[in-house]
Amino acid sequence: MIYLDNAASGWPKPPQVLQAMTHYMQQVGANPGRSGHRLAVEAARIVYHAREQVATLLGVDDPLRIVFGSNATEALNLALAGILRPGDHVITSSVEHNSVMRPLRALERQGVAVSVVHCSPQGVLDPQAIEAEVRPTTRLIALTHASNVVGTLLPIAEVGSIARRYDLLFLVDAAQTAGAYPLDVEAEAIDLLAFTGHKALLGPQGTGGLYIGPRVSLDELRPLLRGGTGSRSEEEVQPHFLPDRYESGTLNGVGLAGLAAGVEFLLEAGVARVRSHELSLTRRLLEGLARIPRVQVYGTRNAGRQVATVSFNVQGMEPSEVGLRLDEEFEIMCRVGLHCSPGAHRTIGTYPNGTVRWSLSYLNTEAQVDEALNALETIVRG
Ligand SMILES: Cc1ncc(COP(=O)(O)O)c(C=O)c1O
Repeated sequence: MIYLDNAASGWPKPPQVLQAMTHYMQQVGANPGRSGHRLAVEAARIVYHAREQVATLLGVDDPLRIVFGSNATEALNLALAGILRPGDHVITSSVEHNSVMRPLRALERQGVAVSVVHCSPQGVLDPQAIEAEVRPTTRLIALTHASNVVGTLLPIAEVGSIARRYDLLFLVDAAQTAGAYPLDVEAEAIDLLAFTGHKALLGPQGTGGLYIGPRVSLDELRPLLRGGTGSRSEEEVQPHFLPDRYESGTLNGVGLAGLAAGVEFLLEAGVARVRSHELSLTRRLLEGLARIPRVQVYGTRNAGRQVATVSFNVQGMEPSEVGLRLDEEFEIMCRVGLHCSPGAHRTIGTYPNGTVRWSLSYLNTEAQVDEALNALETIVRG
């Protein structure tokens, strides 16, 4: 079996992740941050360790600026609905995931103006096109770091400096890059960064969060939820400090134990090494696909300009048929269709049928890439 659906959820996980989660369930299990007994203190320590690991990976000095939630979607909703008010203007791109576009379309109905800047059919974004959209009411620029359809990297450092120049907040959706591509929120002038635990961070589903930078005031970022935090229990108003202001309700302790282990694994390997392995697998994959007749690959077709996610179609076949045959005849798992990103498919010209998407991780091998290419060639020639 070959798993090429890491852009949806990373799998398999390193054994350390499973061990950390089993340890938590067997030996800890208490509520992090609520009670004062030893197990609760141990649970809180594990959650803080997860904060530290994620902070280190993202280049964040203060781990309390990492707010945990269920996934990247929740973090993006918190950032967008928390910052934008009627009358505000936001700029985004045409290759965003629905986790950005759906909250923005809902906010638009409440009076927020939304500008969608078009990327090229390869998914490339011109930072000048973002700058051209800035208006006096612009509050936020929200961009994915890499397209989850074609993998193309967006120029976040350039856009970050534009955001600073106009004193705008900059939100980055790092669902496809955190753990797979080096990130430094300070160098890239990122104010808010949404991450997910279950993809390249190698943690379990049900984990993710938001980095909240020092340029974001806690008054202007409204919480999505209010409730128990274990702190300031005497007060009926939400605490006004990080991370509690944005972490109501019991955290996913077991999930965060696994996330901490996943990120620890990445930090030991080094994100640069992860990137270089994925880069060479992507190169191999792109070269192999180019040799198979009737296969059209989308995106820049340049491994250096993308993450390890490749979209393609086979002339004369529906993406769903290709995906089904890969699964049934070759035990190769991938994702076909629109990948929750209709805008990206409109941009690259594959709406409404979509593409076949192969997405790799650090744990894939060259042999798997070759086997997948051979399987595809058999289907195409068959
Ligand atoms: C670019 C992008 N943003 C957001 C998300 C949502 O992530 P999550 O499943 O953690 O909510 C995804 C997931 O596929 C994604 O690819």
